[in-house]
Amino acid sequence: MSQSVVLLICMLCSLLAVRVGADYIPPARLDGFVYSNHHNPDSILIEAFYDPVCPDSRDSWPPLKQAVTHYGSCVSLVVHLLPLPYHDNAFVTSRALHIVNALNKTATFPMLEWFFKHQENFYGAQTKNLSKASVENKVVKAVTEVVGRSYYNSIKTAFNDRKTDLQTRVSFKYSASRGVSGTPYFYVNGFLLPDSGSARDYKAWRKVIDPLVGAHGGKKLEPLHFFL
Ligand SMILES: *[C@@H]1O[C@H](CO)[C@@H](O)[C@H](O)[C@H]1NC(C)=O
Ligand SMILES: *[C@@H]1O[C@H](CO)[C@@H](O)[C@H](O)[C@H]1NC(C)=O
Repeated sequence: MSQSVVLLICMLCSLLAVRVGADYIPPARLDGFVYSNHHNPDSILIEAFYDPVCPDSRDSWPPLKQAVTHYGSCVSLVVHLLPLPYHDNAFVTSRALHIVNALNKTATFPMLEWFFKHQENFYGAQTKNLSKASVENKVVKAVTEVVGRSYYNSIKTAFNDRKTDLQTRVSFKYSASRGVSGTPYFYVNGFLLPDSGSARDYKAWRKVIDPLVGAHGGKKLEPLHFFL
């Protein structure tokens, strides 16, 4: 039952994505970076929509990680990107994540965490006097720091490869097609959590997920009222 609902939601979402992104063919694989997927078909799917240079996204990451660790195989997490137009370097840093993911999947989340940690250096005010090229160089340097010097040429090439630009656009369009207009937004099993757009702490995550996994011994609740 719940699986078919999720499937239906996924189908609707992909239909919507195709319609919104009508100038692109559908991507070969579903958008998003998989943080944890335990191949448990009953696991609860959390989707986080992030902008690498958004302070609220940054602040929401440690408690979300903690919650995902707490629930183990009961929860899967996928991170989607929404580079916000009012964050000057959101697109180039999002593109960097796609580039890293293609070079070494394991380094994707360390890269995201690097951007969260050093994100002030990429804010609009801090890069106001810098050229687009010099910001890109800063990003290339950052990526090199995370994935290793030996990748320098591949990273440079990837920033000139239209494919990585398109992948980042697909992320943007996918997020937009899901109705995401700010970050961080969170979906749980396809439903948008209320209060999206701001960080949520560990306790708030427990309050959402505990009833879904039946953590208090009883049978799983179907707490639909939460979303209604
Ligand atoms: C991929 O990234 C991980 C995490 O940063 C690192 O431990 C590993 O050595 C990298 N692998 C390669 C082939 O660069
Ligand atoms: C940018 O340049 C202006 C004018 O030279 C200067 O006043 C300002 O402090 C500079 N900003 C940064 C972040 O370097």
